[in-house]
Amino acid sequence: MFEELIAEWDGERVVIRHDSPSGAWMFICMHSTRLGPAGGGTRMNVYDTPQDGLADAMRLSRAMTAKFAVAGVDFGGGKAVLAVRELPRGYERRDLLLRYGDTVASLRGGFVTAPDMNTTESDMDVVAERAEGFVFCRSPEHGGSGSSAPATALGVFHGIRATVQRALDRDVEGLTVLVQGAGGVGGALVELLAGAGARVLVSDLDEDRAQGVAANAHASVVPADRALDSECDVYAPCAVGGVLNEQTIARLRCRVVAGAANNQLASPADAQRLAARGILYAPDFVINAGGVFHGIGKELLGWDDERLGRELESIGDTLREVFDRAERDGTSTEAAAQRLADERLSTPTQPRALAR
Ligand SMILES: NC(=O)c1ccc[n+]([C@@H]2O[C@H](COP(=O)([O-])OP(=O)(O)OC[C@H]3O[C@@H](n4cnc5c(N)ncnc54)[C@H](O)[C@@H]3O)[C@@H](O)[C@H]2O)c1
Repeated sequence: MFEELIAEWDGERVVIRHDSPSGAWMFICMHSTRLGPAGGGTRMNVYDTPQDGLADAMRLSRAMTAKFAVAGVDFGGGKAVLAVRELPRGYERRDLLLRYGDTVASLRGGFVTAPDMNTTESDMDVVAERAEGFVFCRSPEHGGSGSSAPATALGVFHGIRATVQRALDRDVEGLTVLVQGAGGVGGALVELLAGAGARVLVSDLDEDRAQGVAANAHASVVPADRALDSECDVYAPCAVGGVLNEQTIARLRCRVVAGAANNQLASPADAQRLAARGILYAPDFVINAGGVFHGIGKELLGWDDERLGRELESIGDTLREVFDRAERDGTSTEAAAQRLADERLSTPTQPRALAR
């Protein structure tokens, strides 16, 4: 039942496990190990079919390969999906995570992981009980570096500033920024933007969450179903992937798209659609690298807060390089970023983060 997806995928290895006690499927996709072990978050989600879960893991793991390559961090791309019937709690959750930890451990470091959608640092504490050494971003009480969301938000903030500077030749002060998704990353981003003098619009399916985040930052709430129709200078997708497609791009009323969500483009053609509308797009796998800088930098490379701060700021520099290349080569920014990743993948001798 999964053969067609696997045949079409360009990655290296897929591990599929059916977890009989819970009915969940576990998919671990190792897209590339050319630069190092495959690394990527563990997503827990309810999908219409198991194939949808596998397809999600495959897409996300490919993006991780590009993310690590552009960031200059010595890891390959991976992703795990736990496709559950419903999000488990209590002992059922713990038991599922322990069995998942056994699966991660069986790969002996070929795959390392961290939290992702619907998994937390406490969940990683449980996974690490069985897969010690292969889990990043556990809670600080268990020796981990904790949530990567604040670092991701700060990296996205630097990225938004660089993108706005290129598109509008100014800083974010006085601009209107729509933040879609008021979770860990979106919530922190709203505060940063408000602190820099932007007028912030916040939208979340959970309207109470949006209200709470907005109240702290004097921001305004926009209903989730009307978010994309809001007039703004910057649209920052910080909720789910696939939000940029033929229909939504036609509706956008912004000049810049720059946000944290993974796999924002529904298809590669959507990068051209954005460019054709005069919207400058900051490729997601470049602007949202703050999470990997946080987890790997702090836990493996010994970075202190100052070093982490410099690396997060460098996301703006990387985007400037991507924009220069896109202009020079006459391509979309997505294509320029992918080419940058491909170049680094073909010369993996001196990855930046480990070379210094
Ligand atoms: N946390 C990180 O370090 C990190 C790193 C890289 C990328 N990302 C990506 O950034 C995004 C946000 O991550 P997070 O950690 O803040 O997640 P989160 O789960 O804390 O928050 C996501 C928020 O989006 C809301 N949401 C979901 N669908 C929505 C929709 N259609 N419209 C509006 N709101 C919606 C949810 O209610 C939730 O409040 C995700 O796509 C994630 O994959 C996160």
